Order: sequence, then structure tokens, then C-alpha cells
Amino acid sequence: MSKRFAQISSFLAVALLAGCNKSDSSDNAPVITKEGREVPGAARTYTVGMSQCNLGEPWRVQMNEDIRAAAAKHPELKVIFKDAQNDTLKQRSHVEEFVSSKVDLIIISPKEAQPLTEPVASAMDAGIPVIVLDRALLGDKYTCFIGADNKKIGKAAGQWIAKKLGGKGKVVELMGLMTSTPGQDRHTGFREGIAGTDIDVIFSADMKWLEPDARQEMESALARFDHIDLVYGHNDPGAHGAYLAAKAAGRDNIIFVGIDALPQEGVAYVQQGILDATFRYPTGGAEAVDTALKILNGQAQTVPKKIVLGTRLFDKSNIAQGGEALP
Ligand code: FRU
Repeated sequence: MSKRFAQISSFLAVALLAGCNKSDSSDNAPVITKEGREVPGAARTYTVGMSQCNLGEPWRVQMNEDIRAAAAKHPELKVIFKDAQNDTLKQRSHVEEFVSSKVDLIIISPKEAQPLTEPVASAMDAGIPVIVLDRALLGDKYTCFIGADNKKIGKAAGQWIAKKLGGKGKVVELMGLMTSTPGQDRHTGFREGIAGTDIDVIFSADMKWLEPDARQEMESALARFDHIDLVYGHNDPGAHGAYLAAKAAGRDNIIFVGIDALPQEGVAYVQQGILDATFRYPTGGAEAVDTALKILNGQAQTVPKKIVLGTRLFDKSNIAQGGEALP
């Protein structure tokens, strides 16, 4: 009898252990490679924290949508979205919350470079890989940066504008938030693009990427200058805000140029004749998910430090053909 009891209990113990092992390996158990590296088990699930600086603009809603759609193809990925509502301190605490809840990877599209650099560095110190999307940070303590080349876009905009105006004219520049890298780069690139021409930037202001601010700044520009040939807005909401101000003031004959070229926003504005040109600024959402998967699947060494996305120009001459890629 006692022998039989011993047999049953050892059978139960083996079954229990097997059960434990099974749930471990199908869930969280790491796999040790030949080189002794620990990589996640094949059937593991991963939690990705996505820190978005705001969802006030269609472009950012699209970025989240692109991430959601790409992640939906990978059931092993769970993405937690946080919206900082354009508040840097809130975005810092979102990154800190992701670190304390031990997510497997963070994707961040930071509002500003300097204040978000330190929390991202702390996440890296805690062993959490970080993908930085669209707006850059200072230094290089992150895993990978993904975004288009804003200097190149700014320069292309400057050259397009110089050509459109025959090398001479009065221009208003409505800049994106100048504590963010795309604002800085779209400005310096633009200045390079118009260098050596007789284009005069008669008014420039930081509209912080926001349409209402752009509209207000344009009202000041219109009040000060009787003659404005063109407005260069660092994004389509900015260019559109300026257009609304000019329209309300009855000032026709101004040309408007923007950046982003979402199909439902900038491209539609060009089709409607509101903007004369816009440059596509891809969200990088799908590329961020692809890169996250590589990192999480133990292929971080195949991921470059910087992934530069391409851009396209949309103007009246090419809008029907779906724009034109910039070389
Ligand atoms: C949205 C946005 C875009 C712009 C990008 C730059 O918040 O302003 O319009 O292209 O951010 O980071």
C-alpha cells in the first residue's frame, strides 16, 4: 500500500514539474544560445510601451494607427499607448512608469529633445531597449532612431520655393517647436535651400506645430506687411492656419507650402488648391514595430542606430501621379 502511495505521489510530482516547465517555456522562459546569450523563448509575449507626445494633430493619430495596425499582425506583441497631451513633464513620467512596470521595449516620439533625454537613458540603464521615433534626443543613449531627414526636407522646400518665386520674393516662415529637432532642421535646411537667392524672410515665428498658433502669428505678419508672396509652414497644420488667417483678411495671391502630406490633410489641401506644395513626412510607425520585433527576437545586432525614411513632394504638377520621391 505504502509503495503504491509512493508511486502515485512521485507520478504526481513529475506531472506537476512537467506542467510547470511547459507553462514556463510557452510563456516567458528565455532560450540560451550557444554563445551563452539569453534570448526570449519562441512563444513569449512582449509588452511594448508607446509614449506619444500628443494626439492633437492628425499626423500623430496616424502614427499610433500605423503602430497599432503593424502590431496587430503579431499576436505576441501587446502595445500600451500613452498620450502626454503635449506636456513634457507628463511624457517624462510616462517613460518612468514604463520602466517601473518593466515593459520589454519602449517606443517614444518625444515632444522635446533635452528634457526627454535623461528618462530614456534611465530606461536603457534598466535594460529596456528604446526606439526613438520622428523627433530626436540629445546624445546616443537609445537603441535606434527612426525618422525622415528633416534637413533634407527643409532644403528641398527652400529650393522649391526659390524656383516657384523665380529666386526673389517676400516669405513668412512659421516654424515648428524650436526645442524639437524637426523644427531646428526644417529651419536650417530651408536657409540652405534659399541661400544665394534674393528671397527675403520678412517674418518668422515659432508656432510650436500648432494650427491656432500659426493662425495668430500669421495675423501679426499680415498686419505688419502689405506684401507677402509665400508662407513656409514647418507642417501642414501650420500652413493651413496661415491660409485661414490670410483668407479671413481677404489677402489672396499668397502661396502656402507645408510638410507632412497626410492623404487626408496636406495632400487633400494641395488637391483643393489651399496649399501649393507639401512634403511627405512618414510616421515611421510600421518601421518601429518591425524594428521592435527584431530587437525582442534577439536580433538587436542587425538593427542600425539610425533608420532614415524617404520623403515625397506633392505639388500641382505631380499630385495626380501620387507625388514624386525626392532623391
Ligand atoms: C505633429 C507634428 C507633425 C510634424 C511632426 C514633427 O505633432 O507637428 O506635424 O511633422 O510633429 O515632429
